[in-house]
Amino acid sequence: MDVREALYTTRAMRRVKPDPIPVDVQTRIMDAAVRAPSGGNTQNWRFLLVDDPEVKGKLGPIYRQAMSVLWATYYKDRIDAAHAAPDLEESKSMLRVQKSAQWLADNFEAVPLYLFGFTQHDPGGSSIYPALWSAQLAARAEGVGSALTQVLVFHNDEVFDILGVPTDDHWFMSGCVSLGYPTGKWGVAARQPAHDVTWRNQWGADPGFRDPEPLWP
Ligand SMILES: Cc1cc2nc3c(=O)[nH]c(=O)nc-3n(C[C@H](O)[C@H](O)[C@H](O)COP(=O)(O)O)c2cc1C
Repeated sequence: MDVREALYTTRAMRRVKPDPIPVDVQTRIMDAAVRAPSGGNTQNWRFLLVDDPEVKGKLGPIYRQAMSVLWATYYKDRIDAAHAAPDLEESKSMLRVQKSAQWLADNFEAVPLYLFGFTQHDPGGSSIYPALWSAQLAARAEGVGSALTQVLVFHNDEVFDILGVPTDDHWFMSGCVSLGYPTGKWGVAARQPAHDVTWRNQWGADPGFRDPEPLWP
C-alpha cells in the first residue's frame, strides 16, 4: 500500500467483525511497530496482545464502566451542546464519535484482538505512541481496522491484575488499541486543514501555504 494512502485513511475503525486476525498478520503488525523511534532508542516498551475470550470478558465490563464515566464527566458539556444544536458540523462530528466509541464499549468482547502498550518512566507516552501509531498504520496496510483507546487507565489496578502486569516495576499502561477487520469502508480522516493549525517563524503567522482540501488522493 502507498504510504500516503495509509496516512490518510488510518482512522478510528472501531466497528469490526469478530473474525480472528491470523498470527502471521499480527506478526507483521508488531514487527513494523517495533521499528518506531523511542527516546535514546531505549525501546523501553512492552506490548501485550489480548485475544483470550476469558480475559476480554473480564476487561469488557471495566471498559464500559470507564466509558460511561467519560461521557458523564469529561465529554458531558460537549455532548449536551451537540444534542442542543444537532445540525452544526461539530455537533454531528461529536455525536458520530460518541456513537462509534459506544459501539466499541458495547461490543468490547467481540473485537478479536487488543494491543496494550506499556512504558516505564514515560507517563506522557512520547516513547510509545509512535510505536502504537505504527502498529495502526501497519494494520491498515493489512486491511485491519484499529482504534487507540485510553479509558482503561481509569481502572489501572484492576487491569494490571487481570493482565498480570507487575505492579512494582513502574510500568505505565499508555494505551489499548482495538484491532479487527472493519465492517465499514475506509475513508480519508476529516481534520481541520493544516494551514489553520500551522504557523511559520512566529506564533500566529501565515504558514505560507493553503490546503483547503485533503491532498490525497
Ligand atoms: C490519546 C488518545 C486517546 C483515545 N482514547 C479513546 C478511547 O478511550 N476510546 C475510544 O473509543 N477512542 C479513543 N481515541 C480515538 C479518538 O476518539 C479518535 O482518534 C478521534 O475521534 C479521531 O477519529 P477518526 O480518525 O475516525 O476521525 C483516542 C485517541 C487518542 C489519540
